[in-house]
Amino acid sequence: MTLNNTIEIDIVKASSSKIASVDFENLTFGNIFTDHMLICDFKDGVWQKPIITPYEPFLIDPSAKVFHYGQAIFEGMKAYKDDNDDVWLFRPDENFKRFNKSAKRMAMPEVPENVFIEGLKTVVDLDREWVKKGLGNTLYLRPFMIATGHGVIAQPSSEYRFMIILSPAKSYYSGEVKVIIAEHYSRAANGGIGAAKAAGNYSAQFYPTKLANEKGYQQIIWTDDATHTKLEEAGTMNVFIRINDTLFTAPTSERILDGVTRKSLIELAQRDGLNVEVRSVLVEELVNAAKDGSLKEIFGAGTAAVVSPIVAFAYQGTEYQLPQIENSFALQLKEDLTKIQYKLAEDTFGWTV
Ligand code: COI
Repeated sequence: MTLNNTIEIDIVKASSSKIASVDFENLTFGNIFTDHMLICDFKDGVWQKPIITPYEPFLIDPSAKVFHYGQAIFEGMKAYKDDNDDVWLFRPDENFKRFNKSAKRMAMPEVPENVFIEGLKTVVDLDREWVKKGLGNTLYLRPFMIATGHGVIAQPSSEYRFMIILSPAKSYYSGEVKVIIAEHYSRAANGGIGAAKAAGNYSAQFYPTKLANEKGYQQIIWTDDATHTKLEEAGTMNVFIRINDTLFTAPTSERILDGVTRKSLIELAQRDGLNVEVRSVLVEELVNAAKDGSLKEIFGAGTAAVVSPIVAFAYQGTEYQLPQIENSFALQLKEDLTKIQYKLAEDTFGWTV
């Protein structure tokens, strides 16, 4: 198949589809994958011809550097189906740019734009039946790259595999989201890899998040590693805090991921005339606002999580409940965003592709 951007992709179609066996009403996030996947290998210093094959396991050398040194990055994106059965991607150029930023930080080769973008469009098109209509139904897209080079010497691999796999998804969180404010563990430090979507950033959170889960909290809101006084982001999403009628979110930095949902919500909030300030909120400010009643909302924003209202936070052993409010900014912004994603409102920003 030849695409307008002069990329050729070999396609080997699955002999039959698994789709009839999937219960689309009862999906667990990221658990079921579609019929096809894209593979593009990097060897001898060049990217090879991409191929799309049936989704299946593949062989990899046990000494591959991904297993030993965690040289692995990924992106999270979604495809949406509108009422005319057209399928849309949301700001894929942003994910592409961030992917290569992550690649650079992890000493991995940058993926060519046509492999990433045309590869996505082709594999999504092939599995378009897996994108279901209706608000909340999405196909979660997971482009990723791993170091496949042989040998346990601690240096960057010379071989890599870029892949795209697709998973039908509804919501990421199934119930209420309560968070703990980090007091000891950290997600990232200046000069580290916090701004990269590196696999290790996520696995390093599993243990502290497990401790939080044991106490009944779904996520941690990370604080700055040096002082633990400034609120940063949560494990799977950026964080917004509304005090009175001002919406705050921390600036992106070497420690905070430049979330596509985060930046889209900032633009939507500005369009709606909401007062948005991109600045760090101190833990002390949050606690004081919860005590004096000026804290109205906390919500997470991410591709998987979309906009997830947080109902309570815990700090130093005390739990603070968020109030029930009318005119929630979280709900308004979620509606604004999803209307654009599902083509129910005009996309004046040009975000849908
Ligand atoms: C996403 O929101 O797509 C992410 O990459 C977070 C992931 C841990 C589910």
